[in-house]
Amino acid sequence: MSMPESRDRARPLLAPSILTADLGHLTDEIRRAETAGVDYIHLDVMDGRFVPNISIGIPIIAAVRNATSLPLDVHLMIVQPEMYIHPFAEAGADILTVHVEACPHVHRTLQQIREAGCQAGLAINPGTAIGALEPLTEMVDLVLVMSVNPGFGGQAFIPSVLPKLQRARKMLDAAGSAALLEIDGGIKPENARLVWEAGADIIVAGSAVYRSDITVAEAVARFRSVFED
Ligand code: DX5
Ligand code: ZN
Repeated sequence: MSMPESRDRARPLLAPSILTADLGHLTDEIRRAETAGVDYIHLDVMDGRFVPNISIGIPIIAAVRNATSLPLDVHLMIVQPEMYIHPFAEAGADILTVHVEACPHVHRTLQQIREAGCQAGLAINPGTAIGALEPLTEMVDLVLVMSVNPGFGGQAFIPSVLPKLQRARKMLDAAGSAALLEIDGGIKPENARLVWEAGADIIVAGSAVYRSDITVAEAVARFRSVFED
């Protein structure tokens, strides 16, 4: 596993979410994305408590680890994520992202993630102010700005998160942080440039990559083509 360069200014990094992939053929779906040249695999873990949906857990992360050498970007949409840091790290997560709304002691939780040998990510819901990031810029390797309310793939992008993304970019730059800024929810080739220009380094895309009408390779090529001129 090799992590992408800290900041690639020619184009954003692409992290397909497997939430809307064909989970009956998950390893094939992962390989399709890898062959298409994506940068990470984004894995959405939901517990039915923090979000009103249940998705995948630790055994699936371990299966995906065996199927790819790409970095695994694990997005924990669960309460008490601090209880599960070690199992997820052992399953092969490279980045473990926790929601600020789910962590009363988020500073400690981020510290524990790094101690477990993972990169520490902080996720922020559309309804949460970005000010939560300010005291934590040294503690994070990734900041995930949610552009939908978490829980489901295929939702519409919430445009009012754009100023927040810009503020997060400024906050990280002002702190001299090398943390990558990720945007997640409703991202398509049509709005990819917008979020890139607002400061996102990594684009998560679920339903725009795993769709029924075009192949994964074609979907990834459409994202790439936005940044080719
Ligand atoms: C939503 C998840 C997202 C989701 C993205 O709770 O965190 O990663 O899978 O899916 P799209 O790209 O379809 O919005
Ligand atoms: Zn996600």
